[in-house]
Amino acid sequence: MPVLRTFFIALSHNRALRRFSERSLVGKRVSSRFIAGMEIEDALRVAEEVNKQGMSVTLDSLGESVTTEAEARVAAEVYHKLLDAIAARKLDANISMKLTQMGLNLSPALAESIAESVAQHASKTGSFVRIDMEDSSLTQVTLEIVKRLHAKPDVRGAIGIVIQAYLYRSKNDIEDLIGNGIRVRLCKGAYQEPAEIAFPRKADVDANFIRLANLLLESPVYHGLATHDDAMVAAAQSYASQHSIERSRFEFQMLYGIRRDLQRKLVDEGYKVRVYVPFGNDWYPYFMRRLAERPANVLFLAKNFFRF
Ligand code: FDA
Repeated sequence: MPVLRTFFIALSHNRALRRFSERSLVGKRVSSRFIAGMEIEDALRVAEEVNKQGMSVTLDSLGESVTTEAEARVAAEVYHKLLDAIAARKLDANISMKLTQMGLNLSPALAESIAESVAQHASKTGSFVRIDMEDSSLTQVTLEIVKRLHAKPDVRGAIGIVIQAYLYRSKNDIEDLIGNGIRVRLCKGAYQEPAEIAFPRKADVDANFIRLANLLLESPVYHGLATHDDAMVAAAQSYASQHSIERSRFEFQMLYGIRRDLQRKLVDEGYKVRVYVPFGNDWYPYFMRRLAERPANVLFLAKNFFRF
């Protein structure tokens, strides 16, 4: 399976296939398995439906690695509109965004100032912005930006970060973030990373996820555990119950369209669940990372492809 993972992650960087897929009708239909739709309205409609099922939402306007400041500003505008719509419609939702979509590769200062204005807006409207974590070349700068913004009084508490269990450094980062009172989303990690900095074996990533999840569960800060893995969920449930950690003190997070059965089950058992709802035209790299995680999804998509 690691070969297929590498293959799909390599495909996620293929520009020609990306251009073709994002423009084709078939591409849009196939991607709808994991993507709420192309427009803000689609995302808001899905958020409302998910809320009705007893789950919170985080909205992701898809896009990464913009190449001009103008693109970064357009991307930020979408997030400002989302925050206003979340407040106006009283949705139980926050937003997730990537710093490379805000121009991080062009200028860290640009990305930081855009993220600051989005986070200030989130704070004013009682919402929250989660900064997604990208590949390891960006881990340090992403942590520094989030820590600086969290330290500002008009942002404090309205910004959080993601930590990837596959990185060796993550235990130190989590301890530091907990010390700063910053909300963490823990995930396994979706990029291709070298063995010098990340566990190459899935069993080690899983073991580290459980260790880090326990640190988060023990801390007084509200965190999110992002996984579709039954074993990770069971480990967190058992740690929480052994240590009398109430179900309201943390949340599970899952991606739109993945393990709806598990999402439902957790809600029925009284756990908090947040669904990550991506939308927009730039869906290709996100979609390819989902195939990399579970190549069996290709079969599922192929079956649907022939039904169109
Ligand atoms: P894992 O891949 O270990 O698989 C365990 C089981 O889960 C599978 O056997 C299958 O049953 C189910 N499963 C997993 N993926 C599936 C899929 N695509 N389709 C169907 N079933 C699937 N990563 C990152 O690097 N930066 C980030 O900011 C984020 N953000 C993020 C937010 C949220 C809400 C989630 C859920 C995930 C992320 N991720 C992420 C992705 C994360 O790092 C990881 O790649 C995926 O969640 C897959 O790991 P799991 O723990 O879910 O299961």
